[in-house]
Amino acid sequence: MDYSAMIQNRKSVREFQDTKVPDTTLAEIKRYYDGECGRLVPSIGTELHLLGADSREKLKGAAGYNEFMIGNAGYFAILSDEAEHMAENAGFIAEDLILHMTELNLGTCWLTFKDGEAVKKALGIESGRRVVALAAFGVEKKAAKRLFLNIQNISKVDAVKREFYSPRLGIESLVFSGKWGNKDGVDEEIGDMDHPLWQALYAASLAPSYLNRQPYGFVLDGGKVVLISKDDAYTDENEQKLNLGIVMLHFAAVAEQTLGKRTWTLGAYDKDLGLPSGYRAVASCKL
Ligand SMILES: Cc1cc2nc3c(=O)[nH]c(=O)nc-3n(C[C@H](O)[C@H](O)[C@H](O)COP(=O)(O)O)c2cc1C
Repeated sequence: MDYSAMIQNRKSVREFQDTKVPDTTLAEIKRYYDGECGRLVPSIGTELHLLGADSREKLKGAAGYNEFMIGNAGYFAILSDEAEHMAENAGFIAEDLILHMTELNLGTCWLTFKDGEAVKKALGIESGRRVVALAAFGVEKKAAKRLFLNIQNISKVDAVKREFYSPRLGIESLVFSGKWGNKDGVDEEIGDMDHPLWQALYAASLAPSYLNRQPYGFVLDGGKVVLISKDDAYTDENEQKLNLGIVMLHFAAVAEQTLGKRTWTLGAYDKDLGLPSGYRAVASCKL
């Protein structure tokens, strides 16, 4: 897959046509999940469930911002064994699937939920594993203006029609050198648009995040990129772990296109990066 292109094409789609996703496409999604789909922690057992459009009614009240559900979509859920980093792993896997669905010309939208057991029950899924990631997918309804969410906070999310993409923090606000907040030398280290590191960090800046808050950043430390997680009043722990898995997938997938396989090492970083309180290093990746 040309991850860089798919990452630039992907956006949250919240209006879907009534058209059913063909069975051949569903089979291709399953094939991809069973095969080349990325895994952050391959030892964690997961399973994919593809669910039909009739799930929308069942999910009402169990998933979506402020119980706000979208169009006539199909859904997919990733279930996982209970394990450390299971949510980051699920974010990584689900975002890889989402990018493959983008390649298959499907629209997608991540969906939040508070209680995985309630989602499992609503969908009639029988499994000993936990629901860790949920998203809608389907054939996008094309319109002159797209449906976006005007997100002020979790209790104030309005659907609005507008023509612009969701505003994002760019590389200049997300990436620092040596210490958090230090921008000296960043441009020299990451180069310009043709440089693999620039491309991977740009892909990271386009990662979808819960309420579009992007509560993370990067510190470049010699030959390593360190991922920093920021506490955020609107993002709970599980959503943040999904965010982190998603942003790690964007970075690693695009880095791999030019630099070869890159893997994240999860866990604290053994060096003072000048992080403010509420910030912590959660993973690093050798360049
Ligand atoms: C963990 C997670 C949960 C999300 N939950 C929802 C949701 O319940 N409803 C929704 O419409 N969008 C949801 N989103 C989508 C984000 O709001 C969206 O990715 C962000 O606003 C950026 O817009 P974009 O995806 O168009 O680039 C979620 C995203 C993430 C990463």
